[in-house]
Amino acid sequence: MTEQFKMDAPATERRLDDMAQGLVGAPLDRPEGPLKVTGTATYANEWQVDGMAHGVMVRAPGNSGRVVLSNRDAVVKMPGVLSVIQDDRLLRNPAQGTANEAPIQGPQHVAYLGQLIAVVVAESFEQARHAAQALDVTLENGEPVPVDPETAAVEPQEGQALDQGDLEAAMSAAENSVDVVYTTPSHSSSPMEPHASIATWEGDDLILRGSYQMLKYNRNELADSLGIHPDRVRVISPYVGGGFGSKLGLAPEAVAAAIAAKEVGRPVSVALLRPQVYEATMRRSETRQRLRLAADADGRLSGFGHDARVSNLPGETFAEPVLQASHFLYASANRKMSLDLARLHRLCAGSVRAPGEAVGVTIVENAMDELAHAAGIDPVELRLRNIPEKDPESGKEYSSRRFRKALQGGAEAFGWNDRPGVKERRDGDWMIGYGMASAARVNILKESQARVTLRPDGTARVETDMTDIGTGTYAILGQIAGEMLGLPRDKVDVVLGDTDLPPASGSGGSWGASSSGTSVYLACEAIRRQLADRLEVDERDLLLKDAQATYANKTTALTDVLRGDEIAKVGHVLPGDTSDAVRQATFGAYFAEVGVHAATGETRVRRMHGSFAAGRILNAKTARSQCLGGMTFGIGMALTEELAFDPRDGHVANHNLAEYHIPVNADVPQLTVELLEERDDWASPLQAKGIGELGICGAAAAITNAIFNATGVRVRDYPATLDKVIAGL
Ligand code: MOS
Repeated sequence: MTEQFKMDAPATERRLDDMAQGLVGAPLDRPEGPLKVTGTATYANEWQVDGMAHGVMVRAPGNSGRVVLSNRDAVVKMPGVLSVIQDDRLLRNPAQGTANEAPIQGPQHVAYLGQLIAVVVAESFEQARHAAQALDVTLENGEPVPVDPETAAVEPQEGQALDQGDLEAAMSAAENSVDVVYTTPSHSSSPMEPHASIATWEGDDLILRGSYQMLKYNRNELADSLGIHPDRVRVISPYVGGGFGSKLGLAPEAVAAAIAAKEVGRPVSVALLRPQVYEATMRRSETRQRLRLAADADGRLSGFGHDARVSNLPGETFAEPVLQASHFLYASANRKMSLDLARLHRLCAGSVRAPGEAVGVTIVENAMDELAHAAGIDPVELRLRNIPEKDPESGKEYSSRRFRKALQGGAEAFGWNDRPGVKERRDGDWMIGYGMASAARVNILKESQARVTLRPDGTARVETDMTDIGTGTYAILGQIAGEMLGLPRDKVDVVLGDTDLPPASGSGGSWGASSSGTSVYLACEAIRRQLADRLEVDERDLLLKDAQATYANKTTALTDVLRGDEIAKVGHVLPGDTSDAVRQATFGAYFAEVGVHAATGETRVRRMHGSFAAGRILNAKTARSQCLGGMTFGIGMALTEELAFDPRDGHVANHNLAEYHIPVNADVPQLTVELLEERDDWASPLQAKGIGELGICGAAAAITNAIFNATGVRVRDYPATLDKVIAGL
């Protein structure tokens, strides 16, 4: 029943190129789109469960000390209140699954200001919120704790350090060099849909409905947090209103809902309030990055140094992998890299929108721009001269890499030749500049399973616990099944987001489409073999199109081949040797034109282009949308986005959509995206690589480099807000 396949060798057959239905790659609409725009897709907090009570979480007012709820008895007696729950399991990071472990700071001890420490449950949401506001939280025996990465103690991440050749010698001998320090602030995932969970116990079995990215893992995390077996937990999440990393692991409300539902003996719904999303879900670490580039007169790199400092709470393991693409993007014989992790008491740092490359490639690309300027070499030409033949550290081949084409084609599409000199072009009060940057992101294949059922009526169903976090999973998996089985798109339905279905890769790290898509492909291959057996032909000679099978000059309706039977197969892909045998990554290039107002320093992005290569594109529309989203994140990162911490206590000062400035329509000009044709045989049998996050990995640098071109001002402290630009004008 299960087709298991391990990716141990390149898939050179490229079978999808020979299928007849013509669905894969086509810019097809999302089948669930009408549900979403008519408000009938059920998002996390919209489930109505009989007898449901409401929980509202309560935050810690300080960053250290033991939690005391001094008026708890009075709050419990407030109208409608069912329970006030303070439980150590709320204080742990549920994403790490830490059953039976005390919180990092000790029993009942908080770790940061804003941490969610209790949940108040009431008949209605309003009663719960009112009671939560009335609850008096104090912290006993708190001690001063570090909150500033500049002064906090750091732990060198030994596993990340690299010292190859002699960077210092290369720097002294270089004809052109840069040695610069940039900083990027913390970012919030800031999904439109707040984190929300509804927990229902049926005896010892728990059903959790909500908004999550990786159900198989989330189920284990919840079981681990509660100390129960994962078989007792079912997680349901058909629609996700954005996650961007903050829903990879469970957020605090999921554990709170489960504990509260047990306590009050009724289903409980807990949604984070908007400020709580900013204060208590994963942040991207702020970074401090030093880039050292040494080059000869022609700009060929002889030295590449990248030293970064990031931060997290004491005891947390995640360290923003800033150096990830620095290892393979550019050639250079002498290389030195290091990553330090500062331990401090800001909210937990974790994966946010392309962890590592989003900020790492951005600063590399700023430094490359500085080098291009210092050496008097065109920035595109400088990149082209430094594309390594093989992975510069391991000597491995690249699995596929249309980097050169992205740079050259992107430059042409944008009209890069028309680039003005620094501070040379004006349009009235606006100083005009062009900037560019490379894009790069690692590619990952993850274990994934899906069941495909070909039904007697010639329709098919795809089932997996995969999620669609806005990325287009429903569309893509249906396209792959339709392509392989020769069915029009509307003859395939796709059911996602339920751990009762075969466990998938989940959505994260750009691996979702290629991993879960491969499992669907494998299941369909097995179904094709069974159909071929029935027709007594070789499966390779079977052409399936429009629900008809053509073979040996005959054409038969699929329904006749099925003769009333259904065929169900599970596809199961496992990563294998190809993950390690070659360097697998995606590449691209960004080009931006900005106007900087000469009097106010305000930057407006006037136009922006991205060219990207990520293997086979499975759906040209949803892939393009991912790139548009990434470039939009880049505009935010460049100009406005910053999670601001109070230096006294480390609390998030701008915990709402009004003050945490993500770009809105008026900030985003017409963006253009070119997707380059590519096949990556090493990545998966689909020859597809991940494209979800590629569009943000370096995007902000194209804009800040354009600001330099317009004004001669380098803002090395992101974001490039107008006060920083004007200070340099
Ligand atoms: Mo992503 S930040 O791995 O959801």
